[in-house]
Order: sequence, then C-alpha cells, then structure tokens
Amino acid sequence: MPTCNCPVTQPGPTLASTCGGVPFMLFMGLLEVFLRSQCDLEDPCGRPKSTQTLPEYDFVVVGGGSAGAVVASRLSEIPEWNVLLVEAGNDEPTGTQVPSMFLNFIGSDIDWGYQTEPEQQACLGENGQRCYWPRGKVMGGTSVMNGMMYMRGSRKDYDDWESLGNNGWTYNEVLPYFLKSEDNKQSDKMDRGYHAEGGLLQVSQFPYHPPLSRAIIKAAEELGHPIRDVNGIYHTGFAIAQTTNRNGSRLSTARAFIRPFKNRKNLDILMNATVTKVLISPQTKQAYGVEVLKDGTMQVIYASKEIIVSGGAVNSPQILLLSGVGPKNDLSRVNVPLVHDLPGVGKNLQNHVAYFVNFHINDTNTAPLNWATAMEYLLFRDGLMSGTGISEVTGFINSKYNDPNLDHPDLQFFFGGFLANCARTGMVGERVDNGTRQIQIIPTVLHPKSRGEIRLRDNNPMNHPMIFANYLTHPDDVKVLVEGIRFALRLAETKALRRYGFQLDKTPVAGCESLTFGSDKYWECAVRRQTGPENHQAGSCKMGPKTDPLAVVDPDLRVHGVDRLRVIDASIMPRVTSGNTNAPAIMIAEKGSDLIKARWLSPPSYFYNQPQTSQRVSRQWDGLGIWKR
Ligand SMILES: Cc1cc2nc3c(=O)[nH]c(=O)nc-3n(C[C@H](O)[C@H](O)[C@H](O)COP(=O)(O)OP(=O)(O)OC[C@H]3O[C@@H](n4cnc5c(N)ncnc54)[C@H](O)[C@@H]3O)c2cc1C
Ligand SMILES: *[C@@H]1O[C@H](CO)[C@@H](O)[C@H](O)[C@H]1NC(C)=O
Ligand SMILES: *[C@@H]1O[C@H](CO)[C@@H](O)[C@H](O)[C@H]1NC(C)=O
Ligand SMILES: *[C@@H]1O[C@H](CO)[C@@H](O)[C@H](O)[C@H]1NC(C)=O
Ligand SMILES: *[C@@H]1O[C@H](CO)[C@@H](O)[C@H](O)[C@H]1NC(C)=O
Repeated sequence: MPTCNCPVTQPGPTLASTCGGVPFMLFMGLLEVFLRSQCDLEDPCGRPKSTQTLPEYDFVVVGGGSAGAVVASRLSEIPEWNVLLVEAGNDEPTGTQVPSMFLNFIGSDIDWGYQTEPEQQACLGENGQRCYWPRGKVMGGTSVMNGMMYMRGSRKDYDDWESLGNNGWTYNEVLPYFLKSEDNKQSDKMDRGYHAEGGLLQVSQFPYHPPLSRAIIKAAEELGHPIRDVNGIYHTGFAIAQTTNRNGSRLSTARAFIRPFKNRKNLDILMNATVTKVLISPQTKQAYGVEVLKDGTMQVIYASKEIIVSGGAVNSPQILLLSGVGPKNDLSRVNVPLVHDLPGVGKNLQNHVAYFVNFHINDTNTAPLNWATAMEYLLFRDGLMSGTGISEVTGFINSKYNDPNLDHPDLQFFFGGFLANCARTGMVGERVDNGTRQIQIIPTVLHPKSRGEIRLRDNNPMNHPMIFANYLTHPDDVKVLVEGIRFALRLAETKALRRYGFQLDKTPVAGCESLTFGSDKYWECAVRRQTGPENHQAGSCKMGPKTDPLAVVDPDLRVHGVDRLRVIDASIMPRVTSGNTNAPAIMIAEKGSDLIKARWLSPPSYFYNQPQTSQRVSRQWDGLGIWKR
C-alpha cells in the first residue's frame, strides 16, 4: 500500500452528532487517518491546486460544477489553449465521498444554502413560507452533494427540445454525448447500444443493496410495472438505479474530469474565488473578461476567445444579470447598467416538485451503522456505507393524465429512510419511540407547468438573488402529485411491502387537520403545506431560437446578442428532463465543449468520432448507438 504524504485536511462540515451509532465527527477523524495512510481511490493526493498564472486565458470557465468541470477538462485537451476554471467554493471534503453520508453536507459550508422568497401556494408550513434549495459551492458543484443517481431522461425530452427550435438536440443527437463520458461497469446487464465503456465517468449500481430495496422492486412488479434499464430502450419502469460511484465512493465531476488532468500545464484552477460579472464591451457587445473577487480583492482576468458561464440554474442567470444582460426594467430597478436587453434571463425557471409520504415499518434489524460497518467500508468499500440505502431505488410511471404510449412518464418515485432519514448525523435510519422505523415514498412531478424566476435582490454580487419558485401555482401540478400519493399508498399495500409491516403515518399535516384524512382535499392541503421542493432546478437561461422571446442562448449555447459568451449547464434546458438532472448537465457540457471546438478549430478535428487524448481507451462511434474500442 503506497503511503501518501500530501495534506488531506479539507474544510469539514460543522455538524453535531445526535443519532448515536458512530459519532459523525469521530468517523470523519478515522476517515482522515485512513486517507493519510493509503493513496487509494479516495485519492487525496490527486487534488488540484488553486493557481492563476496568467493575466489572460483563451477560455475562462465560470463555475466548476457538474457541467463546468467537464467543459474545463474538455477544452484543456487542446494543448494550444490556456484555460482557467474559476470556482466560488473550495476543494471537496473527504467525507462527501462516502455515499451513505450524502445528506450530511446539506446546510454545511459547501452548500450555498438558498431559500426561496415566500411562496404563495407551496412550502406554506415552512418558516416564512420559504423552501430550502441546497446547491453545491465546491469543486464539483452539486455533483458533490447529490444522490448520485445516473438518469438521462426520456427520448421525448430531447426530441421536444429540438421541436422547440433547437437543431442538433434530438435524443439520437445527444446520445453520443451521454456515451462519450460513460464508463459503465455493468454494461452486460444494460440495454445493448445504450451504454459505453472507457469514458471518464464510472457508472454502476452501488455495491450494497439493503433487502428493502429489492422488496420495493418486487412491489412494483406486483403492480405490473416493468423492471428495466430506465436509461435504455424505455424510460418507464422501476430500477435499482445506476449511480456515479467508483468502488463504493462518490465520483463527482471534479474527481472524474479534473483530477486526472490536474497537471496539464494549460489548465489553471482558481478556487475560493467568485466571479462578480462578465465584462462585455457595450459597443461591440463582445465579452472579453471577468471580474473575480478573491481574498477580498477584485481582479480582472481576460479571455481572448470565450467566457463560459456554468454557475448552475440559480447562479448563471444571476451572473448574466450582474453583467447587464437581462430584462431592461429589472436591471434598472437594481441600478445595473444595461449592456444587452434579454427578457428571458432568469425566467422559465422549472423544478420538479414532490411530497414525502411517511410510513412506519417494523424494525428489520438491519445492521446499524456502527464501528463494524465503518470498518467494512474503510477496508472493503462494501456494506451500508457504500450506498444510499433505499434511496438507490427509483421508478417512472404515467399518471391517468399522461399518455403511456409516449414513454414520457410524468411521475418519478424516490424512497427515503434507513440511511437517508437521520440525515444530519450519518446514522442509519430513524427509530421512532415505539420501536418502528420511519421511511418515505416520495412521488415527484416530472412535467411541472408552474414556472418560477430568478431576479437580482440588488446590485451586490455577493448577495443571494431572489428566487421565486412558484411551486404548484398551476393546478395540474397538484392533480398529478395527488395521483402520485395514491400510487405510493398502493405500493405500500403490496404483498412484498406488507411483509415489512408498512403502515401509513396518519398524523394529520399541521394546517390540514380539519379535512378528512386521505381525501383529495386533504392531500391537496398537505402538498401545499409540506412541499417537497426537489433539487432539479433548470431552465433559467433557456435555449431557443432568436424568435423565442424567452430564449437566452441559441442551440449552440451562445448568449443571444452577445459574442464570445456561452452558458453551459442545467439552466439551458428549455424544459426540465423527466428525471434527475446531473447526467443531462454533463451531457450538455460534453456537447457544448464540442460546439466550442467546432468554432475555434478548423477543420473541426476534435469531434467525438476521434480518439480523445483524455480517454483511456480510444473508441469509435459506429452510428448505431454502439461504441467500439
Ligand atoms: C440534494 C441533492 C440531490 C440531488 N440528487 C441528484 C441525483 O441523485 N441525480 C442527479 O442526476 N441529480 C441530482 N441532483 C441534481 C444535480 O446534482 C444538479 O442538477 C446538477 O449538479 C446541476 O449541475 P450544474 O452544472 O448545472 O450546476 P452545479 O453543479 O450547481 O455547478 C455550479 C457551480 O458554479 C459555481 N459558481 C456559481 N456561481 C459562481 C460564481 N459567481 N463564481 C464562481 N463559481 C460560481 C458553484 O459553486 C458550483 O460549483 C441533486 C441535487 C441536490 C441538491
Ligand atoms: C477562502 O477565502 C476566505 C476569504 O479570503 C478565507 O478567509 C478562507 O480562509 C479561504 N479558504 C480557503 C480554504 O482557502
Ligand atoms: C475497492 O476498494 C477496496 C479497498 O481499497 C480494494 O480492496 C478493492 O480492490 C477495490 N476494488 C476495485 C474494483 O477497485
Ligand atoms: C409488525 O409489528 C407489529 C407490532 O409488534 C406486529 O403486530 C405485526 O405483526 C408486525 N408485522 C409484521 C408484518 O411483521
Ligand atoms: C408507532 O408510532 C407511530 C407514530 O409515531 C404510529 O403511526 C405507528 O402506528 C406506531 N406503530 C405501532 C406498531 O404502534
């Protein structure tokens, strides 16, 4: 076992342990000790350094999240290009790599910790009627704190993008970019022609599945739902999802796409540095640099070719607005000088919306998180800590309002509890006083009709923008969600789940006591009081043709009306995909990087059918959906 002398002290979360079992901070200490003694897959030695050596780069990428890390990696494949990646957060804390702790970092110092403005029709039971929006402020962005589920969405999602005027974005045209990053470790089990090996992003199921995961799959089967590769021929169905993990440890985009190339001489990374605006010449409307705030000092860094904004669905519109690109009236209200009037910036904000249906189940004596399971993880990368418990299970169904023939499901189900429940301590499950355990079935609306928006609060770039989520402002979203709750109740009544003693928690939701428990009116009240705000924000820098009044970027992801400026992240989705949004953000970054290469390299020789310098295996796309080595 090689020893490693590099420092592994990262900013850890400042969390207290309350659930017993392994005290969280003690475990973190143990983890640190282990990482000091072995340079293994956690790879504490492979972390990039924060440096900026040049006053001007060819490309400046703003934000090193799910998408930005990929863009910086792909652009720096071209040795002649100097690339700077600017990230507001610091390096990934070690503990984020432990899958079972995936909820521990919400609310920690790697979370932007956004709250929406008071909602009118949702989150009514929350303090100030504000919903909480966790977002990663760290190298790797939200891919460092997400549930790791690898989900592409439906074929129709992308075909719809194309029919909205976005040439080049049909499913058949984006599939090669999903495959480009993919290193699927279970491709023999998956649908042929839909998966690739040898990419930078390892994808596979977690090594450990709790028995209840399999029982949920059985329950879905009992109700007639197919169990299948939901990223393959069909999207509708149930699965123990594949995730972005490597050997039972989280693979953020920073680990997958940046660390292997941290020694590239043409790639600089500046961490703990916030871009406060993009500099755009008002005469030529050409972007030429960024203003960066680091260590209390404001600095200008120039870009000779392009600036790529990858700040995510909240920050990308914020950065454009601070740069004077956005709706004229909104900008004058906060005294930001107008550079280009673009009404769509911050509009079209979408997010899935959910409800947590609570159940009690009999204590199954599942091994709790204790020193033995901790050692099992540290030594063998297996056991409870190597996965997310029943949160690894998901399913896609059609409500009665949706046409099942389209294979474009309008409801997704998530499952919480066991590992996820006692979230803030890393303890497994939450035991209730009477000896039962509490778990949740979580229906999620995939095609919300409600739209929100992002606006500047004022012209201070360090202040959070105003977020209007506007959840459940369209009545159809409520109807679909209530249908989802009804399905959750049916699932809990299957033979497979009755064995666990599933019992619906009938404690009425505060504020809904006067309604008959279980009636449609009751559930409508419940979803507005205890809204599940989901984490799939998208659409706030909408991609669309010039004729679309709300379009912010064109189908090449260039900001309309401004030269040398692109947005590449989840904010460009014209409609949010029918599933989790991390893999789509990575795909958008892969395709966006090729679009940039197509502009600046002639002839465009660096496309996906060419072996890439960054790939361990050179492969060829045969046009039929199969990568060949
Ligand atoms: C709790 C949670 C669970 C989730 N679970 C899943 C899941 O299981 N599967 C899935 O597919 N998706 C999941 N998601 C969603 C998914 O992770 C996000 O959709 C995705 O990461 C978004 O990628 P992005 O590149 O658009 O933005 P981000 O990954 O958020 O990247 C934006 C980056 O830009 C940086 N930045 C922002 N502003 C500035 C600035 N001014 N200057 C410098 N840097 C800046 C940020 O710090 C951040 O690093 C989850 C999200 C959350 C919060
Ligand atoms: C990040 O920057 C702040 C402000 O300059 C500083 O106080 C802090 O120590 C920095 N953190 C790291 C990990 O460099
Ligand atoms: C996973 O990690 C463990 C512990 O470091 C190691 O023994 C094992 O060989 C690894 N497996 C793979 C497939 O890399
Ligand atoms: C669950 O526990 C209750 C109370 O101890 C018991 O009555 C019931 O039979 C148990 N159910 C199952 C399915 O084990
Ligand atoms: C345990 O308590 C919860 C409420 O906390 C209740 O809903 C459930 O029915 C109880 N289960 C048993 C078996 O008593």
